[in-house]
Amino acid sequence: CGIVGYTGPKTATPILIDGLKRLEYRGYDSAGICLADKSLNVIRTVGKVRTLEDRVKELGLPTEHCGIAHTRWATHGAPSEANAHPHTDDKKQFAVVHNGIIDNYACLRKKLEAQGHRFSSDTDSEVIPQLIAEFYQGDFCKAVTQALSKVSGTYGLAITSIYDPGVIVVARYGSPIVIGFGNGCNLVASDITALVPYTREVSYLNDGEMAILSSDKVEMCNLDNVPIEKRVATIDWDVEATGKGSYEHFMLKEIHEQPDAIGNTIRGRLNHQLDSTRLGGLNMTPHDMAKINRIVIAGCGSSMHAGWVGEYYFEEIARIPTEVEQAAEFRYRNPIITPDTLVLPISQSGETADTLAAVREATNKGATVAAICNVVGSTIAREAGRGVYLHAGPEISVASTKGFTCQVTALLMLAVMFGRNRHLGREQGAELLKEIASIPDLIRQVLKQAPVIERIAAKYVKADNFFYIGRGYLYPTALEGALKLKEISYVHAEGYHAAELKHGSIALLEENVPVVAMANAVPGQDKMIGNIRECLARHAPVIAVVSGDDHTADELADDIIRVPMSSRYVAPLTTIVALQLFAYYFAKFRGCPIDQPRNLAKSVTVE
Ligand code: G6P
Repeated sequence: CGIVGYTGPKTATPILIDGLKRLEYRGYDSAGICLADKSLNVIRTVGKVRTLEDRVKELGLPTEHCGIAHTRWATHGAPSEANAHPHTDDKKQFAVVHNGIIDNYACLRKKLEAQGHRFSSDTDSEVIPQLIAEFYQGDFCKAVTQALSKVSGTYGLAITSIYDPGVIVVARYGSPIVIGFGNGCNLVASDITALVPYTREVSYLNDGEMAILSSDKVEMCNLDNVPIEKRVATIDWDVEATGKGSYEHFMLKEIHEQPDAIGNTIRGRLNHQLDSTRLGGLNMTPHDMAKINRIVIAGCGSSMHAGWVGEYYFEEIARIPTEVEQAAEFRYRNPIITPDTLVLPISQSGETADTLAAVREATNKGATVAAICNVVGSTIAREAGRGVYLHAGPEISVASTKGFTCQVTALLMLAVMFGRNRHLGREQGAELLKEIASIPDLIRQVLKQAPVIERIAAKYVKADNFFYIGRGYLYPTALEGALKLKEISYVHAEGYHAAELKHGSIALLEENVPVVAMANAVPGQDKMIGNIRECLARHAPVIAVVSGDDHTADELADDIIRVPMSSRYVAPLTTIVALQLFAYYFAKFRGCPIDQPRNLAKSVTVE
């Protein structure tokens, strides 16, 4: 979900609506705003922010100078107007927007109902304004801290009150909150995307911290009301980077940004003197690195898929035993961690709750934790304290594209650095550096194939089931390719190991089930050709991804997507860009809302 709040000299409504639009990728099943003065003016709608904007216009633009707003990704209670935020207490004194989950809400609600509070939603969040009202005795901030002392769970909160017009109280425990220091105004948001047009000066709240915003000052304290000093950070994103430019969708823009984004991930990190890579944020001496005897990668969704490619890199290039953990499993299965284990959480947003929980568990077990994140200053990056920033620029499309390819590139660079720290010779190091430097150009060549890929996507637009098969480095690539198609086109697509298919799932193949086969000219291609024949024998049409002018699969496949010739290390990157384009055009032909697929959210800050 997304939170935004504003207090200052301007009319708050347009700023809040604009902020919500920028945050809409965080959730979009309902939205609402509350303009606060001596009374609370709450407007909520089901659906996208556009619907809320229309409603606000219909009702006549409210002119208050302070307000909070929310765009929701439902956890408790179906998307409905009553369940949309902001929520108020039954006497409409306090309004709250909340991200996170209140675990003990059922018990709190029961007590509050017994005390006479009437609830009007099915959400966990509504207990917060009711509790604040229960405790309020003239001190807004004190009532908030008292209410929060009763709550267990996670929250990022922004709260307004009729008793303190122009004041927004915010608090954080487990769900991100960032304060923006504007010119004569102050803002709050759940991520910096909403703040970029108004300020570059921000402060990130840590768990257990609060802030009291008014137009001319921000006071920070902990949940015991003890004042704290916070560092002000400067955001380096520009406003344009958070817009769509001339592209129809953020996803297409971000697919096309990949050569530059990867260029930024690589910049300054190739060390030609040592034929190695230089990842200063890792903050590890050669001695520290030599001590690492195992790597555990933790992530969710596309970030986990990037981790799987990383596993191949680390084991092959650096010869370090590596495993990938689904971040959601990590802390519950009590992983074996020693001081010589390097845990690498991977998260584009740096806010995914499951991955954050893995960071905390790994830190607690004494591992060396280094995060691979895109969003600078995000919670995972801050808590890990060391790692690699991707510098990919903001990724807005819910389906990750440049985030994934930059993560894979970062993992390749890390594997080279660890490899050179051990058995990898200078010559092999130099060869790998050359390959890394060539990635942006190779991806530019894939992007030129967009019209061909678009035609192929059009041909299969009626198919409702797909298989994506790959081997070696192209196995996780197949998983990620299938995920792209599922996420944005709602078509069932299964990523599978090409050899494993025959052990069960091949039963599903028939003439209406296309198979996208990674038949690149890399080790294992001969076996892949055999696997393609197995699919053809079951009458499944085959779309083959092939390399350069290699014609091995030409005669077999129904359709061919050509990516430039590369080594096995770079093949996942070129190949996935082709699969991203395929998913994009396929979803477009099926009329799907590509940037905001149903049921999904860009950053999932609940477990
Ligand atoms: C959500 C998104 C996915 C993303 C995953 C991990 O589920 O819909 O696209 O891959 O979270 O996000 P992260 O920010 O941790 O990389």
